[in-house]
Amino acid sequence: MAQAFDTLKQQLIAEPRTWLVTGCAGFIGSNLIEALLRLGQQVVGLDNFATGHQRNLDEVRDLVGPECWSKFRFIEGDIRDLAICQAAVQGVDYVLHQAALGSVPRSLNDPATSNEVNISGSLNMMLAARDEGVRGFVYAASSSTYGDHPALPKVEENIGKPLSPYAVTKYVNELYADVFARAYQFGSVGLRYFNVFGPRQDPNGAYAAVIPKWLAAMIGQQTVQINGDGETSRDFCFIQNVVQANLLAAVKQQAGQAEVVNVAVNDRTSLNQLFHYLQQELANNGVSYDIPAHYADFRAGDVRHSQADISKAGRLFGYQPTQNIQQGLALAMPWYIRFLR
Ligand SMILES: NC(=O)c1ccc[n+]([C@@H]2O[C@H](COP(=O)([O-])OP(=O)(O)OC[C@H]3O[C@@H](n4cnc5c(N)ncnc54)[C@H](O)[C@@H]3O)[C@@H](O)[C@H]2O)c1
Repeated sequence: MAQAFDTLKQQLIAEPRTWLVTGCAGFIGSNLIEALLRLGQQVVGLDNFATGHQRNLDEVRDLVGPECWSKFRFIEGDIRDLAICQAAVQGVDYVLHQAALGSVPRSLNDPATSNEVNISGSLNMMLAARDEGVRGFVYAASSSTYGDHPALPKVEENIGKPLSPYAVTKYVNELYADVFARAYQFGSVGLRYFNVFGPRQDPNGAYAAVIPKWLAAMIGQQTVQINGDGETSRDFCFIQNVVQANLLAAVKQQAGQAEVVNVAVNDRTSLNQLFHYLQQELANNGVSYDIPAHYADFRAGDVRHSQADISKAGRLFGYQPTQNIQQGLALAMPWYIRFLR
């Protein structure tokens, strides 16, 4: 039960709004446009296909049907171009800014490009949204901002030193958002996502996230590599919880205030447990996998444990996660099997 979200959905259906989703061809962005289009909203999407795919947009088109899809307008462009950002925000009520180069290892290999996209690109989006006078601005922050702070669960006010260029870029977004509230009364909410997973998360490439990467190996009957001893833990968050947090934060944010909130489940799953859950859920879907995992070195820039206190998002917006990791895996698994077989 997510009462605040159910009420919001009814409001949006009754009074549709116009939304801009940056990074709409990516994992989280494509799930956001799907949810918004299903609610009959007008949606503008911006993406340059750096890590996103046309196939994600095609899948959303097929899922939502022609009537909802007719309310979608796609702009192919780069957030590093201010003029593109300005064109994209025109007439928009709410911005859900997801476009960025994700992945800690990618940022260690190429910090300059991560910096340009994640910092300069996000600054462009904030400038464009400020000048357009949008009603709400939500942006993808990250749990990586907790860096080397040891406390668990993670509470928004207590952060440590960043452990990667990626974490720096995400933290700088928060600093800009804070300054924009003070200097220009520009309101925003940064959502510190914790290891999001679900359909359309890219399993391919060197920078794939752990769940799709392991599933690709498992469905292909290859060995899974676990970095470290497998006791590294994460607060894995199913995509529908993230969709809920975005919509609530956009509509319920307080004008002129910059907030940052955790978006997760307040749960902790070790990599060893995750491996076991994936094996179980594959078996539930008729795929048996018995190859033991291979343990390798710890990965640079990774934090050891992560678990979120999610009470702030609950207090401010009524956020209540609807799926835990196992429920999320059960919902996502048919998609992965279809996609990866
Ligand atoms: N997935 C997670 O677990 C997680 C955790 C914390 C934060 N985040 C953040 O959430 C956001 C979405 O992540 P995701 O997992 O959907 O990744 P993704 O790579 O699937 O999506 C990002 C999208 O942004 C687009 N993009 C990249 N550079 C761009 C540019 N210069 N101009 C326009 N579009 C550009 C990509 O093409 C892609 O479609 C990112 O900001 C990411 O840092 C994700």
